[in-house]
Amino acid sequence: MVKPSPANRKPKQNSASKPASAAANALELLKTEHQAVAELFDEFESADSDEQQALAEQICQQLTLHAQIEEEILYPAAKNVLDGEDVELVNEAAVEHATVKDLIAKIEAMDAEDEPYKATVKVLSEYVKHHVDEEENELFPLLEGTDLDLESMGAELVGRKQELMTQLGSDEDLDEGDALDGEQDEDESAVAAATAQSAAKSASKSKPSSRKSP
Ligand SMILES: [Fe+2]
Ligand SMILES: [Fe+2]
Repeated sequence: MVKPSPANRKPKQNSASKPASAAANALELLKTEHQAVAELFDEFESADSDEQQALAEQICQQLTLHAQIEEEILYPAAKNVLDGEDVELVNEAAVEHATVKDLIAKIEAMDAEDEPYKATVKVLSEYVKHHVDEEENELFPLLEGTDLDLESMGAELVGRKQELMTQLGSDEDLDEGDALDGEQDEDESAVAAATAQSAAKSASKSKPSSRKSP
């Protein structure tokens, strides 16, 4: 007896939603954030005073979140896998973050009309450029040579950032009413779902044994 052809039968797959594509690599994700802030600094340069304050606020907020997730997740993990002088790179990066935060605090305490406002944003921009340069050209290449699971770290960074943004957002939403709230919740759950999926994917991949010598 011949069974009916399965030609029309599709394999059971989640066709409803796109599969979460490759999990975000932590370092690629952080580089994307570096690029986004660099673009905001460029915009700041050519903006008028009204726009400048909003742009500077955005820059400060993004840098604050970025620094926090690096300090909570990337730097401790980096210290675990690096040794000797390489650990000093991480310590230097953390010290540089402290300076970035000082500059951010100064900018946030000022008004765009204040005389040193632009100069302070400019100094922040140059300082961040220097810091990013060290991360991307010294620290990140070192980490790529270790057995750090950069994909599950990517998921962790995204998840933590969402959490922090939700905290920030819920403060701001108090002023803005409920309309945006629902939209934001949807976005957040989509990102959270993708993040969880990515993390699960990464966890299920069996990794080849460590490339780093003890
Ligand atoms: Fe950093
Ligand atoms: Fe960074």
